[in-house]
Amino acid sequence: MSIHKEVKKITTNTLQKMKQSGEKISMLTAYDFSFAKIIDNAGIDIILVGDSASNVMAGHETTLPITLDQMIYHAQSVVRAINRCLVVVDLPFGTYQSNSDIALASAIRIMKETGGHSVKLEGGAEVVESVRKIVGAGIPVMGHLGLTPQSIYKFGTYTVRAKEQAEADKLLSDAKLLQEAGCFAVVVEKIPAQLAKQVSETIDIPTIGIGAGPYCDGQVLVMHDMLGINTEFKPRFLRQYASLHDITFNAVQQYITDIKSLNFPNQTESY
Ligand code: KIV
Repeated sequence: MSIHKEVKKITTNTLQKMKQSGEKISMLTAYDFSFAKIIDNAGIDIILVGDSASNVMAGHETTLPITLDQMIYHAQSVVRAINRCLVVVDLPFGTYQSNSDIALASAIRIMKETGGHSVKLEGGAEVVESVRKIVGAGIPVMGHLGLTPQSIYKFGTYTVRAKEQAEADKLLSDAKLLQEAGCFAVVVEKIPAQLAKQVSETIDIPTIGIGAGPYCDGQVLVMHDMLGINTEFKPRFLRQYASLHDITFNAVQQYITDIKSLNFPNQTESY
């Protein structure tokens, strides 16, 4: 029997046991009550209230503009919906990079105002002091290495990271640092599968991959991408499990046709 069916609520301890037993961890983003309810009921292990809300909910080109208040609004909506999964909330750009006191204050706001269970932040050595401080206050932290979208203007592109040895070495050393600082898990985004394997075998905390191959301890996708709501984004790593864009588009067209042709509402749909 899988561990996740034995437990009522998923905690960071559950995830650690899943890594030890070899059971893969499932994680998906959500930003609102209705989708979070479906995803939690379906049995997901972790919901990430990602700052990808900046892209898929607000229509920004990058994750940089989303604010802490906006992340708190999304996280509150998600937390109201869930019964079982662990909720991780992204610390948005500008709320933790400057110093560890500000990072802790931002994390405390998320925990106090949303009821979420943990926070995620991007980076390795550069943010390790902040990780220590937040973990020291009793707040679980998930790390995020590889392609870190909040640094997109530094990278210049969304291509695969850490293909060169020097960057791969730094990523491995950052993963160890994050573990030492007390992170309970680390997302590795868009890195070679063999590097993700090495990281996953080296550190004891779970790795959650996105575009990082099959050897990670878990996988995460952005909900709008995997449900086919967002049709323009088709990277190689994305498996699309539904075509909600087409289903919604066709339903709306049928609705318009029915209104125009006086077919809706009919007698049984009227009082
Ligand atoms: O914000 C987000 O959706 C993320 C995932 C891509 C891991 O950080």
